[in-house]
Amino acid sequence: MRTIAFIAAMFAAVPALAAGDAAAGRRVADSWCVGCHLVGDEKKAPMLDVPPFPDIARTRTPDQVRTFLQKPHPAQPLFRLSQKDIDDLAAFIAGVKR
Ligand code: HEC
Repeated sequence: MRTIAFIAAMFAAVPALAAGDAAAGRRVADSWCVGCHLVGDEKKAPMLDVPPFPDIARTRTPDQVRTFLQKPHPAQPLFRLSQKDIDDLAAFIAGVKR
């Protein structure tokens, strides 16, 4: 029994560490990214030349998203993302693929 609990705990913990927390990523996206990007399934027209997150999810791996977010992108206002924010956003973006 204890072995099973231990294994279950490991599976519960590992994705949160390695892959980021998509729900937390959504919260970051809702405060920092919605100004320009479509971040989910909202029904508004995308801004010109700003890739919607579902498109990014289709064309980029989470690692590519993480690498991209290490630096601010040109059109972005100043905001600082922690490494955790970056991991969470990468996990969230990967999940909005459609
Ligand atoms: C001021 C507008 C603006 C804001 C705010 C903004 N972005 Fe962007 N983003 C852009 C534009 C414009 C592009 C396309 C040009 C480029 O790649 O720099 C882009 C590109 C990207 C790409 C790369 C897509 C690709 O082709 O690989 C990612 C990933 C991304 N944004 C994520 C985010 C995240 C996450 C946030 C919130 C933390 C955010 N952006 C906030 C305007 C914005």
